[in-house]
Amino acid sequence: MTTLAIDGLQSRAVEAAPSITRILANASMNVNGLIPLWFGEPNVPTPRFICDAAAQSLSAGETFYAEGLGRPFLRETIAEYMTALYNQKIGADRIAVTVSGGNALNLAFQTVLQEGDRVATLTPAFPNLLAIPRLQGANLITHELELKDNSWYLDVDVFLEKTRDAKVVLINSPSNPTGFMLERSEMERIMKVFRQRGTWLISDEVYARTVYDRKVSPSFLDVCEPEDRLIVINSFSKAWAMTGWRLGWLTLPPSLTPVVEKIEEFSVACAPVFAQRAGAVAIREGEDFIAQTNRNYQTARDLVCEAFNPLPNVLNPLPQSAFYAFFKVEGVTDTVSYARELIDTVKVGLSPGEAFMMSEPGWFRLCFAQTPDTLSDALGRLVKKFR
Ligand SMILES: Cc1ncc(COP(=O)(O)O)c(C=O)c1O
Repeated sequence: MTTLAIDGLQSRAVEAAPSITRILANASMNVNGLIPLWFGEPNVPTPRFICDAAAQSLSAGETFYAEGLGRPFLRETIAEYMTALYNQKIGADRIAVTVSGGNALNLAFQTVLQEGDRVATLTPAFPNLLAIPRLQGANLITHELELKDNSWYLDVDVFLEKTRDAKVVLINSPSNPTGFMLERSEMERIMKVFRQRGTWLISDEVYARTVYDRKVSPSFLDVCEPEDRLIVINSFSKAWAMTGWRLGWLTLPPSLTPVVEKIEEFSVACAPVFAQRAGAVAIREGEDFIAQTNRNYQTARDLVCEAFNPLPNVLNPLPQSAFYAFFKVEGVTDTVSYARELIDTVKVGLSPGEAFMMSEPGWFRLCFAQTPDTLSDALGRLVKKFR
């Protein structure tokens, strides 16, 4: 049925594919006893000391508009944090505070993308990474990661060949949903070629701190020059359990900062000051929290492996980072129907691989940021079903 009310609307918006996971979740709202493992967020609320900083800011009357690029205290704090993490001087002039990682991605594309430009990205991918450039008129080129010896793998040579005509390349490492991480030497090779070609690189590093065998994931900032065409996306959502706060940041080449400032002004104007106060405290005092939650995620990841790895029909590559298992159940040909069946029969909510542009059927994403009890309960139900 055509509705007159939507005639003349932006066709890319009207035609944008709805989120498969959201459809499943909405339809299962009232299922009693359902364990939802489909959304990607920490299971714990934001730590108290971070909330207190916001409460104090509100009590002090910090309820006004602020600078589009963020309050100087937060830009300075982020710049110091990035400088310490990546062992190179990153000035506050390169930092733009944003209203979430999602907002940061939108701003990055708005800054560099023109209608019809080719944008390349890796799949399987967080759906927004494809939806955002598509909504802004990009022609998408996708390249699927391979599985080698039960590990995700990127053939850098093939990827570089495939991205030859791309104006912008978006890389998400550590990756949602696979936990795949590029190593520094691979980043170095990619950066070198993109520098020669003049390709823009948008590097989504929102899971930089959710890693198991090191303090921080390798970053393109480790291998870049300040004026390289590199925009790095970060967020407070995952590492500091602040998904509902909507706070993130961009690290930019200095000459791009004034352009982003204008665009930020025309979209959200600025991030709320009380959230920025909370963000600064999170960065300064949050290292113990990050270490503890990563230990918890590691325990949870072990539980998933103990449950799935003995099953001959389940392929469960070990996630190197982030808090998702992305696994395959052999013999499943209709992933979305099977995800529905899991809701109806064992009452566990998983995200089907199609939501992440996985070409092969039978893949699911499970967020293991859960208490051991809830996760064990869910895994027990799934194992019974998969067996
Ligand atoms: C890869 C990736 N990038 C960006 C985001 C956006 O994070 P937020 O908007 O909560 O900062 C997410 C959220 O799940 C993500 O997984």
